[in-house]
Amino acid sequence: MSQVSENIYWEKGHVSRQNRENLNKHKGVVLWFTGLSGSGKSTVAHAVEEVLHQHSVRTFVVDGDNVRHGLCSDLGFSDDDRIENIRRVGELAKLFVSSGTVVLTAFISPFIADRDKVRQLLGQDFIEIYCACSLEKCESRDVKGLYKRARVGEIADFTGISSPYEAPVSPDIVIDTEKDILQVCVAKIVRYLEKRDVVLSVI
Ligand SMILES: Nc1ncnc2c1ncn2[C@@H]1O[C@H](COP(=O)(O)OP(=O)(O)O)[C@@H](O)[C@H]1O
Ligand SMILES: [Mg+2]
Repeated sequence: MSQVSENIYWEKGHVSRQNRENLNKHKGVVLWFTGLSGSGKSTVAHAVEEVLHQHSVRTFVVDGDNVRHGLCSDLGFSDDDRIENIRRVGELAKLFVSSGTVVLTAFISPFIADRDKVRQLLGQDFIEIYCACSLEKCESRDVKGLYKRARVGEIADFTGISSPYEAPVSPDIVIDTEKDILQVCVAKIVRYLEKRDVVLSVI
């Protein structure tokens, strides 16, 4: 990774993060969803966003699939590219957090070391949410037909099939998307945000 040149400075604005959070009446954090393809990251992230938005919380979902259309369109799925993908998203999320936004990221983010780097970057602002769902269940959902293609060798380095997934050891929140319905998963996350005083009472 390249070093930041000594000729590059950090330009500090006049409106602080605290000013923005005061205006918004909530804090900025990252809800980092991790889990297998089809485990429900996007579904839950968008459902949580909808509830928060209805309660005037400023939110933004950064979804793995969308980022790969632009910001990370030069990256593939090798280990190195996955690492760089997550690094960029971590930095992007940090900028959003400093704008006082509740950012919801939906990336498989299969490696513990990469998620830990983002945690280090964001500290207390990083909330890791593990979408727990067995490979069998994700495969039976096969939302995008990718498992079928991975099984016949049409997709290389597919998480859970031909590339590993490292589940979080101590995530901040675990949602069981295999057994619990969507509304239960959403409520669990929103309650956590209320308890942590990220947002005022929502539910
Ligand atoms: N409790 C649940 N939470 C999230 N998704 C669920 C749940 N129960 C069933 N599903 C279904 O599982 C699928 C998850 O797909 P998706 O959100 O695209 O996963 P990912 O973004 O992790 O790849 C969707 O078809 C969704 O309707
Ligand atoms: Mg998704």
